[in-house]
Amino acid sequence: MNTPRCDQTEAWNALRGHYEAHGRDFDLREAFARDPGRFGALSFEAPNVFADLSKNRIDTASLHFLLDLASECQIESRRDAMFKGDPINHTEGRPVLHTALRAPRGQAPFSSEVHSVLEAMLAYVETVRDTQASGIRHIVNIGIGGSDLGPQMVVPALDAFVHPGMTFHFVSNVDGHDIAPVLRQIKPAETLFIIASKTFTTQETMANAQVAKAWFASNGGTDIAKHFVATTTNVKAAAEFGIQTTFGFWDWVGGRYSLWSSIGLSIALAIGADNFRALLAGAHDMDRHFAGAPLAKNLPVLLALVDVWYRNFHGFTSRSVAPYHQGLKRLPAYLQQLEMESNGKRVDLDGKDLPYATSPVVWGEPGTNGQHAYFQMLHQGTDVIPVEFVLVRHPTHAFTDLHSKLLANGLAQAQALMLGKTTEQAATEKAPTASRELDAQTIARHRTFPGNRPSTTLLLDQLTPASLGSLIALYEHRVFVSGALWGINSFDQWGVELGKALCHDLLPRLTSGDVEGLDGSTAGLLRRLTT
Ligand code: F6P
Repeated sequence: MNTPRCDQTEAWNALRGHYEAHGRDFDLREAFARDPGRFGALSFEAPNVFADLSKNRIDTASLHFLLDLASECQIESRRDAMFKGDPINHTEGRPVLHTALRAPRGQAPFSSEVHSVLEAMLAYVETVRDTQASGIRHIVNIGIGGSDLGPQMVVPALDAFVHPGMTFHFVSNVDGHDIAPVLRQIKPAETLFIIASKTFTTQETMANAQVAKAWFASNGGTDIAKHFVATTTNVKAAAEFGIQTTFGFWDWVGGRYSLWSSIGLSIALAIGADNFRALLAGAHDMDRHFAGAPLAKNLPVLLALVDVWYRNFHGFTSRSVAPYHQGLKRLPAYLQQLEMESNGKRVDLDGKDLPYATSPVVWGEPGTNGQHAYFQMLHQGTDVIPVEFVLVRHPTHAFTDLHSKLLANGLAQAQALMLGKTTEQAATEKAPTASRELDAQTIARHRTFPGNRPSTTLLLDQLTPASLGSLIALYEHRVFVSGALWGINSFDQWGVELGKALCHDLLPRLTSGDVEGLDGSTAGLLRRLTT
């Protein structure tokens, strides 16, 4: 295809040279000592999000080469092609238009379809949220992957905005341990089941939907039309399932980009029509920033360039996300799908093997919990793992003392990663819990922190529908940019197919016990499971 791949640019070679000369041994502490203006130069504003990139192993010189890379890879024209609706998901022949779902009427492709579904959905939402009239107290979203992770992340994040008389449940796994405890908490007359599936064929979702339908009937439920609703592109399959109320969307909405579509129904039920519109508006503000800000101030572009710098030059294999907000506890899981399903690819747009690495592993837990689990490794382990802190200035609860402690912890971790502690420093400090059997120098070496470990801090003023919308859109566009630099298709997911097909073959064998034609390991395990 006619789009330059990162490794075929002059900037890539220049970055190689720059990495050897200055990147490999770059020291954050020295960089701050050299440049008192570093924080100002390397922190950026985007709608609802302030980003401090100054604790990363970059400076104006590396940024200069990275921005050249973005220009040579024609990031701006590729971005414009996405917004315009060109079929950039070329292996499926589809446009990629999740941005159209949050654009004001008339400002993006498919505007009238998008707004007519949105209006119908939000009108419906308000009738259900009138719990006196509807009788609905429990919403059960049955969906998986993109039909689950977005809503499951957003609803708790916006807990302060959630209808106080409704409880939200998310069932995704084809494991009775997921749906069984939910069914124990609900009554048919008070429950609305949302069957959320782009394709309406996904094994897990269809199996759970059947369980819900059977449970509903056998527990005295009478009105399927009122208590089951579908959100899908496959309206026909939803009707065949027996569902009368369906909110549709389109094949140009990727599953992991679908929370803005009718897949967001559970979100809208939780926070109401106005707040759902605010979520969309926040995302649209970030879309405009991405579409219009110069590359050197364009936050999704800058974050993606740092990602590529770390992955392909420093060789870092993962990135840890640490949201210092309990409401964002599902953000790492959401980002895993967004980034790893999008950019976990090994061939370029022409199907040629890539000679460089793509998606890092994305993982994490909310702070401060992660500090008491795996931060040990981040501080003193043998791998360098860039960390992304997400801090929220104002809480929506009244426990200000807790919030100050939370923020101090987030700042301290980023500081500790960067500053570290020398053996000399450690040797001067008291270590009351250290063994008396060991000499002071050995203890000091165990208590040394190498430091120079990079982090990014994203700062929101408050976690609101608008700011969360902006934050999610920021991540979406960052993934787009790194995928575009790597020259891959970020919008297909062929890698999930093989396991699905093999599962289809294995399922009847679990009943028949037939192991013919299976590899030795699978045959052995199947025998143990069936005899
Ligand atoms: O298996 C991967 C996947 O196709 C995801 O991309 C998608 O979000 C998920 O399955 C669920 O698909 P559906 O919404 O069609 O049920």
